[in-house]
Amino acid sequence: MTAPTPQPHHVFVTRPIADSALRRLAQSARVDLWDDEAPPPRRDLVARIRGCDAVLTMVSDRIDAALLRQAPRLSVVSNLAVGLDNIDLDAATRAGVAVGHTPGVLTDTTAELALALMLAAARRVVEADRFVRAGRWRMWTPHLMLGRDLSGATLGIVGFGAIGQAVARRAAAFGMRVIYAAHRSTRTLAKPSRQRPAGEAGAAPAAVAVPFARLLAEADFISLNAPLTPETRGMIGRDEFRAMKRGAILINTARGAIVDQAALVEALRSGRIGGAALDVTATEPIAPDDPLLEFPNVVITPHIGSASFRTRQRMAELAVDNILDVFAGRRPRHCANPKVKLAPPSDRRRA
Ligand code: NAP
Ligand code: GLV
Repeated sequence: MTAPTPQPHHVFVTRPIADSALRRLAQSARVDLWDDEAPPPRRDLVARIRGCDAVLTMVSDRIDAALLRQAPRLSVVSNLAVGLDNIDLDAATRAGVAVGHTPGVLTDTTAELALALMLAAARRVVEADRFVRAGRWRMWTPHLMLGRDLSGATLGIVGFGAIGQAVARRAAAFGMRVIYAAHRSTRTLAKPSRQRPAGEAGAAPAAVAVPFARLLAEADFISLNAPLTPETRGMIGRDEFRAMKRGAILINTARGAIVDQAALVEALRSGRIGGAALDVTATEPIAPDDPLLEFPNVVITPHIGSASFRTRQRMAELAVDNILDVFAGRRPRHCANPKVKLAPPSDRRRA
């Protein structure tokens, strides 16, 4: 009697990613690619992952308990992102589904965008470009398009993890004083009010831990770099804008829902804050009639924090590695729910 031929693993990939990563995945699995830049509608997502062992998702794909119930063979969700707010991690753990993500490889690229946005907002780069294109540049004048200096200003970072610290290193190189709001793991990184030594890339940045209220009161620029969690959702609201230094500039490269957008519009309208530069918004894409788009002192980019050629390639490779790890019987190398109990592949694939 001959042993049954093992079925190939079946993976649904919800958007085109780097070819080399897809080819590598296709050597170990049957790959079903959603070959469109627009996300699969919910009903297609449900239908396409029903018989899958793995799904490679984007931040805009919502993976919740209801969806997981309809995918009994699924053993891994691999998110092409470090953020995991689109995935119900507890439901995945309960369902025995490992969740992989792509931290680290995108840290510098996202920090570079945070600096780009900070400079753009401080020096009115986008507004100035629009001014020139509109044919309004008639002469040089001493008061044309005056902006704000980064050097000598205080940057307050909320979310002093990998990206927050990479932002801090860059800001220090621009001559900024950096403070950050301490949180669980960051408390062990630097004691409140203790100066850390400056260092080369990757070393602990020069920064001082302060209470959140003090950060709001002292920062000229505030950079949001925390994940979206029940704790951070709406954490920058009316009260926080009122507590900010008049004229402060808000930079958000984390998640839109960390900011109460109605309160942001109010703070901009009243002149309480000096501007905002946002790579992320509460609803993505932002509606064309959103009031935020009316402010000349607001810069908005379409969630491109990690969007460099090199980084997207690395993210795709890592997202594939996370899946192949599970096919080889291990947890993903970057596992977001390490307590997950993986069923032996043979058991799950009979389901
Ligand atoms: P990370 O290394 O895990 O850092 C996140 C930091 O935020 C941690 O130090 C965490 O502290 C801290 N934090 C959590 N809740 C907080 C709170 N309530 N107050 C203050 N700090 C808090 O993650 P990362 O790689 O830096 O990424 C951060 C986030 O950036 C991601 O979750 C993602 O949403 C976003 N992101 C966006 C883009 C983009 O395209 N715009 C690209 C990459 C990442 P504890 O460890 O103590 O919880
Ligand atoms: C992008 O938003 C990410 O979380 O990697």
